[in-house]
Amino acid sequence: MCAVEAPSLPPVPLHGDSATLAVIDIGSNSGRLVVFRRDSLHHLEVLDDARASLRLAREIPEGILSRRAMDRTLRVLHDFMDIARAAHAAPVLAVATSAVRESSNAGEFVAEVRAEIGLDLEVIDGEAEARYAFLGAVHSLPVSHGMLLEVGGGSVEMTRFRDRKLVQCWSFPLGALRMSDHFLLEDPPDASAVEALEEHVEDLLRQAGVPTLESDEVLIGTGGTIRNLAKIDRRRQTYPIRRLHGYELSYDNLNEVVELLVERPAGRRARVPGLNADRTDSITGGAVVVREIATSLGAESLVVSGQGLREGLVIEWAHGKKPPEPSAVRRESVFSLASRFSYWDAGVARGRARIASDLLEVLEPRISPELLELVQHAAVALDLGRSVDYYNLHEATAWILSAGDLSGFSHRQLALLSALERMVGNENVRLKPYRPLIEESDRANLARASAVIALADEIERRVGSASIPPLAWSLDGGRLELGTTISGAWRPRALAARFKRAYGLRLAIPEVAEPA
Ligand code: LMR
Ligand code: MG
Repeated sequence: MCAVEAPSLPPVPLHGDSATLAVIDIGSNSGRLVVFRRDSLHHLEVLDDARASLRLAREIPEGILSRRAMDRTLRVLHDFMDIARAAHAAPVLAVATSAVRESSNAGEFVAEVRAEIGLDLEVIDGEAEARYAFLGAVHSLPVSHGMLLEVGGGSVEMTRFRDRKLVQCWSFPLGALRMSDHFLLEDPPDASAVEALEEHVEDLLRQAGVPTLESDEVLIGTGGTIRNLAKIDRRRQTYPIRRLHGYELSYDNLNEVVELLVERPAGRRARVPGLNADRTDSITGGAVVVREIATSLGAESLVVSGQGLREGLVIEWAHGKKPPEPSAVRRESVFSLASRFSYWDAGVARGRARIASDLLEVLEPRISPELLELVQHAAVALDLGRSVDYYNLHEATAWILSAGDLSGFSHRQLALLSALERMVGNENVRLKPYRPLIEESDRANLARASAVIALADEIERRVGSASIPPLAWSLDGGRLELGTTISGAWRPRALAARFKRAYGLRLAIPEVAEPA
């Protein structure tokens, strides 16, 4: 178990305007580069990335990193640095994890990297690896308490967190490639070998005193192995959200995917839809480890994070060691995504959101905080699709929101947000494509919320965002009336009919008096 302290890398001045920086992660299975743009809102946008299958966990038989492995890694680092430089990334932060930290010649290798490439490769310990993985993964998910599981090629990191603050962490030599090579020697692996690996995992967890999950805790998973397990599961069904980040893998589905992989010989395993070709040999060990950990913790599901160690490195400097509240992460990421669309205007967006919340205060004082927040995001993002397809802008916006890299949302929230945008444009939108995340029973709420956003949009178009004082609405005897006049010619008949259907209310916009 590890204490929770002290980052090892020097702080990067990330405050102020946007910065482009790169992170290199020399893992025990793969090496990775990610080039991030961090805008002033602290949202990380991926500009570029690269991956190389290094398999270093296989190259330290006597605890010494082989010459061949070092040369291969140096070549990959050269390539990563070329990409980082071409993207004008500065600084480039580079870390190495379990395979390098366990080799007795790590120091020589680090010196070679510095001399040949001019890069400071920091060999981080299990604690730092766990902490960064926790920060990266938890930052961008709407979770408060639980356990983060990071499965790498050589090691497994676990961190327990409460109120989004890390409370305990562990590092185990249980990485996917290492366990596959050590236990699963037959092809396909025989049942007794799988059992031996399960017992090994269980023993290590018990010896370390890893507790089972409390009823309010969730299991979050990150790392290439876990992402790939989720991708395989998602391929087995129709599913409305394109991103893997935030995907929930139920225990039963995890179990089915593990069985699917373990019972096939490598040749047939390689054809499992969604399996990355270069994980054919390492995934089985990793899959068994993940399932055994989920079993030991008593987890009902595993929520997959597409972010982890690499994002965590950047986030620690931007935010410190406690991830900001999910609502702040969500707001920043919506603004950050929207600001990439040239016809989108932040002032207009804020005006529209304000009109919508003023309306809801009168109409639905008891609306759930979750729905209220989604209405605000939907109002803010409503017209970003304009930059893509003016005549189908709600469809375009809906698609962008369900496919974009928004942070801090659950998949159900993303589906609701997307459906809400679509419904602003078309009240009778089909909800079936959003299954299993949205049901027909969500329609009434969506119809009301989308009517409010549509009305807010129409008003904003006429009054502009900057000039007006808060609009006064009154609700009286089945009539929703605006306290100010807007424009003599505006008769929102269709909207009024829609309001009647959604709320059972008559919408009254006072006319401007005819000039005498
Ligand atoms: C590793 O340690 O190699 C991981 O970060 C990534 C992987 O390929 O599993
Ligand atoms: Mg790793």
